[in-house]
Amino acid sequence: MDFEKSILCIGAGYVGGPTMVVIANKCPQYRVTVVDINQDKVDAWNSENIPIYEPGLDKLVKKVRDKNLFFSTEIDKGIKAADIIFVSVNTPTKNYGQGAGKAADLQYWERTARQILANSGRDKIIVEKSTLPVRTAEAMGRILHETENGVRFEVLSNPEFLAEGTAIKDLENPDRVLIGSKDTESGIKARKEIVEIYANWVPMDRIIESNVWSAELSKLTANAFLAQRISSINSISALCEKTEADIDEVAYAIGTDSRIGPKFLKSSVGFGGSCFKKDILNLVYICQNYGLDEVADYWESVVKINEWQERRFVRNMLLNMFNTVAGKRIALLGFAFKANTGDTRESPAITITRELFEEHAEVVVSDPKALENARIDLKDVEDSIIFEDDPYKASEGAHAIAILTEWELYKDLDYGRIIKGMVQPAFIFDGRNILDHKGLFSMGFNVFAIGKAPLTHI
Ligand code: UDX
Ligand code: ADP
Repeated sequence: MDFEKSILCIGAGYVGGPTMVVIANKCPQYRVTVVDINQDKVDAWNSENIPIYEPGLDKLVKKVRDKNLFFSTEIDKGIKAADIIFVSVNTPTKNYGQGAGKAADLQYWERTARQILANSGRDKIIVEKSTLPVRTAEAMGRILHETENGVRFEVLSNPEFLAEGTAIKDLENPDRVLIGSKDTESGIKARKEIVEIYANWVPMDRIIESNVWSAELSKLTANAFLAQRISSINSISALCEKTEADIDEVAYAIGTDSRIGPKFLKSSVGFGGSCFKKDILNLVYICQNYGLDEVADYWESVVKINEWQERRFVRNMLLNMFNTVAGKRIALLGFAFKANTGDTRESPAITITRELFEEHAEVVVSDPKALENARIDLKDVEDSIIFEDDPYKASEGAHAIAILTEWELYKDLDYGRIIKGMVQPAFIFDGRNILDHKGLFSMGFNVFAIGKAPLTHI
């Protein structure tokens, strides 16, 4: 069959994978190929056990795989055949040299740009999909314009706004799709080509066109604003614990103000995920580079409050468990950075596990989907941590339970059964405020939640 367009995505991760699966499903007239350097990952995408847990993804993959969706490691071949190339490789925070700890590490990106350059015999549209510092498209453009054979590249920014755990819903029914290009004739022409792809299922009034830098900066700003709401409510959670105000009541009350709105006001043990911290630090780095130190400090404080909230959680555990957890078994329920994903990148659970381990606690980590990643995150202390997917077994003999991820299943556990197997007095620390605190208290638990007065028998 002849396809109308040949689309390539470089990088088969959390962003590239689901995005291309949805494009292939919505656009049977396009041939979509996803390539990655990681052979194991590509093999997994081609198998029964796809490498990402995301509700609904599995079914969509099966519908189109080997029809108009292909996963492969043949990157050069893929580049040659493609009209449009989405780049979705990782852009971690740099951990060396200038900008270490803040700036994005663009080595994967640059390598990709050079590979595109080396394999392109005709004009192509390059779309940046990974979150990147502002002006990356320009840098990419500079590399790509080294061409001597007259091949032209248009570099566009089409940032991804999907959230993990709801990726398919977000992709199928996005609030908006943002496409940035140069304001030149060829830039606008390329932009229209990308608009055409999304127009297959996204209403035109939700497709926003802008210049490249606005698109890039909008992505960082959206994540910074979302994270800032969480840090704001988390900062107030500490005040609630001192004053006996209830954080959920405060969040509800302010969220009904239509100017504020109800979303992203759920106080928690802290935000995680691959984007928030990285993007804010990127923003901070850019501001510092332009001499905007006050702006940089303002945004950096969002990350600092988050780190403080994580540490505060552990401090509360210690304080309330008679100032020591040494030798005590502590069951951590949830390791993923949020529910409905196996992803653990920047999960607060990593810091909390490590801090409890430093305090010589016997830490049991439990999660329905993230134990494999947890083992990787805790590789250096793996032998000292217990990994247990059954929450009942994890809690057996524990002094305390801490809820770190808001998995539905943790709401419905038989806590009456659990408390019987625990060391008394039994403690529960609800880092996601998802449990019935009064009910647990009446069962005999000492209950500590975020931004709420403790319920204790001691
Ligand atoms: C985020 C953005 O939402 C998405 O648009 C962007 O493209 C990528 O980054 P993601 O990291 O997948 O998506 O998850 P998100 O739902 O934003 O949650 C991030 C973290 O904040 C999680 O750890 C979550 O538990 C926490 N969170 C979220 C809260 O603590 N409280 C809230 O009210 C909302
Ligand atoms: P994200 O959450 O942004 O999608 P991931 O780390 O999940 O990030 O995915 C990025 C993917 O990009 C990984 O699977 C990685 O193997 C792949 N990758 C990195 N560099 C290259 C490259 N030069 N060519 C092809 N794939 C790459």
